[in-house]
Amino acid sequence: MLSDVTLNLAYLAAIVLFVFGLKGMTRPRTAVRGNQLAAAGMMLAVVVTLFSAEVLTWWAILIGIVIGVAVGVLVAQRVAMTEMPELVALFNGLGGLASLLVAGAMMYVPNPEVQAFIASYVDTGRSEMLQNEMIVQQIATLEQQTGSTAFSRLATVLSGLIGAVTLSGSLVAFAKLRGYDWLKDLPAIPGGTWANLGLLVFALLLGGCLIAAGLDESWTYWAMAVVALALGYGLVIAIGGADMPVVIALLNSYSGLAAAATGFVLENSVLIVSGSLVGASGLILTQIMCKAMNRSLPNVLFGTLGPTGSTLSDEEVYATVKSTSAEEVAMLLEDAERVVVVPGYGMAVAQAQHAVRDLMNELTARGVDVEFGIHPVAGRMPGHMNVLLAEADIPYEQLLEMDEINNTIQQADVCLVVGANDTVNPDGRTNPDSAIAGMPIIDADKARTCIVIKRSLSPGFAGIPNPLFAAGNTRMLFGDGKEALVEIKNSLEEV
Ligand code: TAP
Repeated sequence: MLSDVTLNLAYLAAIVLFVFGLKGMTRPRTAVRGNQLAAAGMMLAVVVTLFSAEVLTWWAILIGIVIGVAVGVLVAQRVAMTEMPELVALFNGLGGLASLLVAGAMMYVPNPEVQAFIASYVDTGRSEMLQNEMIVQQIATLEQQTGSTAFSRLATVLSGLIGAVTLSGSLVAFAKLRGYDWLKDLPAIPGGTWANLGLLVFALLLGGCLIAAGLDESWTYWAMAVVALALGYGLVIAIGGADMPVVIALLNSYSGLAAAATGFVLENSVLIVSGSLVGASGLILTQIMCKAMNRSLPNVLFGTLGPTGSTLSDEEVYATVKSTSAEEVAMLLEDAERVVVVPGYGMAVAQAQHAVRDLMNELTARGVDVEFGIHPVAGRMPGHMNVLLAEADIPYEQLLEMDEINNTIQQADVCLVVGANDTVNPDGRTNPDSAIAGMPIIDADKARTCIVIKRSLSPGFAGIPNPLFAAGNTRMLFGDGKEALVEIKNSLEEV
């Protein structure tokens, strides 16, 4: 068994590793190292906790570890890179569930001081004295002095409330990211924001009852959890497709805050700090996403993001679509001086990042200036495009953020859109009735010529048509992203 001093020193070391890990993750070059440091910190925290005096039953922990490792290995081996965001959403939800259950279970753990007092009578063969009125009174006083405080009950309530919202919200987010059809039939909670506010107030009232009445009234905790589950559902179900990145960042933050609250319930410093780090970094990410999507934080918090309707049908928008061939695109690129590549989720699906790099090298060798325009929510997770392009060794200096590329995109001879859709949809800029109204986009339509590579005219994540595909200066190159890029490069070599 480890002493308290050793345990706390190990926790401190784990916390330092978490902080350095997070710092490492702020830059693509140091991200892998950062991840390893944070993982080492978590390993240390888990191992020393297992060797602390508070572990009572090993078998339950071992069963949990075996099941967890088996599921984790299976999932990690099976999940495709494009499914990572769903997995993250699911993990956030499980984090919330853990906080909800641990804080709930702690309500039923007997008070150790009272247990020790009772044991001192039982062990010395004086059990009958426990019926004595004076001893009963002493036990009640001891219970009062050493039992739960209003603060620890507040931590329990926050743990359960945030944990339950995170759980149901993340499950809805998971289903939305998966694109399940049955999800479209699920109703939003009638009353919208006001209903969500009502649920929040109801959950807080139930939580308040637990704080005021004590842990014996544990039913209020579970009732609050049910209301909070409905709240999590209500907050996420109404969110329009393209706004999901903001919600996922927020749910990530919630899972951290729930864990931090559970840390207070368990009086475990490493859980408090790691939960707070996740909570704070998730909030920062939410703010960055809000800025990128031109949304306000209060709207995200109460589940009212952007308008939800698009005015025009596919037939109306796609009346004048013009398609092209790899050979024609190669000729266009041959004459270009400046090319901007805008990657999107389709590049990830096609795993076309290496083909993009090969084409870029070919163009650069011919004296063409090639740059990449990276939309902050392109793909399905923050930094998705950066990770893929880094994997293909495309220099970071060539990746320009949305605002930067938009400043000069008018001077691009060709804008090559590879599997992007919502992030280049001009409706974000021009159509106030669109589901993505107000969302900043990469202005691919402003380049002299725009080539869009995708397999069909099907919509992107937001599920709406894209007028870019029918614009006068746009040509559609229909096909798989990787195959199309390889064909363009081959044709370019023949030109
Ligand atoms: P999307 O709007 O999702 O469009 C992707 C396009 O890729 C689709 O229209 C699809 O058209 C095409 N595609 C799929 N497979 C392809 C393949 N093998 N080859 C070529 N094209 C292929 O992409 P985006 O512009 O990157 O926008 C991202 C969207 O996801 C935004 O709405 C964003 O809000 C949302 N979102 C983002 C995140 C984060 S954090 N980044 C998280 C959740 C949601 P075809 O089927 O016709 O080929």
